[in-house]
Amino acid sequence: MLIFLFVSLIFDFSMMQSHQNFNTLEDKKIIIAIDGHSSTGKSTVAKDLAKALHYIYVDTGAMYRAVTLYAMRHGFIDESHFNQQKLEQELPGIKIKFEMNPNTSLAEVLLNGENVENEIRTLAVSKHVSKIAAVSAVRKKLVEQQHQMGKDKGIVMDGRDIGTIVFPYAELKLFMTATAKDRAERRFLELNERGENVTYEDVLKNVVNRDHIDSTRKDSPLKKAEDAIKIDNSNLTLQQQFEQILQLAQTAIKNA
Ligand code: DC
Repeated sequence: MLIFLFVSLIFDFSMMQSHQNFNTLEDKKIIIAIDGHSSTGKSTVAKDLAKALHYIYVDTGAMYRAVTLYAMRHGFIDESHFNQQKLEQELPGIKIKFEMNPNTSLAEVLLNGENVENEIRTLAVSKHVSKIAAVSAVRKKLVEQQHQMGKDKGIVMDGRDIGTIVFPYAELKLFMTATAKDRAERRFLELNERGENVTYEDVLKNVVNRDHIDSTRKDSPLKKAEDAIKIDNSNLTLQQQFEQILQLAQTAIKNA
């Protein structure tokens, strides 16, 4: 009788152990860093991936865009000048946060408490954002905040320096690219759908110009991390791209 009790206790315990192992595998949280050129659809795939994995999604470009909007509204930057010193002085008072939109279940960006999700996506903001993102003091502030957001893992973060600077130890790093022409076409359609009156030539110029500033700046330039997987999506449908990336993520979670 005693032997039977002992054996059954061991059996229960080992079942518990294996069940726990299964849970830890399923619940294992990793960091997924998605970098790449502008308008490569990083945020679309990052959002879909985060939803499928029940992870948090952070669009770091939105944070740089919100700081840019602040600088524009306060007259620190326009077509002809940029008062970097003034922006740096005011940085401590610029608060960037995300809030969940209950209708879309997506995080939207707040600038000092105001929802600026739509305003930060205009071509006017795109035209100045690379200059603002090249300022080390701005990067330092936002990168600190991004570290905090990723401290519990279970996060998909997209940007330009996520795999190289923000989370160099991310378990999965992707680097997305496509031809400038393909990217400008996609962005042009998107802006038109939103009712912005822009020309294709203007959008193409912005895409090329941002690539140049983002990849040649001194602080954290856009470049592929050595261990990042490059994905050229010029000839991929959104669905094909998503399936490819989901598979990479599932493998990375299993191997973590
Ligand atoms: O991803 P996006 O196009 O919304 O980003 C806007 C700009 O912000 C982009 O031109 C470069 C900058 N950026 C950056 O320097 N580092 C990041 N992690 C994210 C964006």
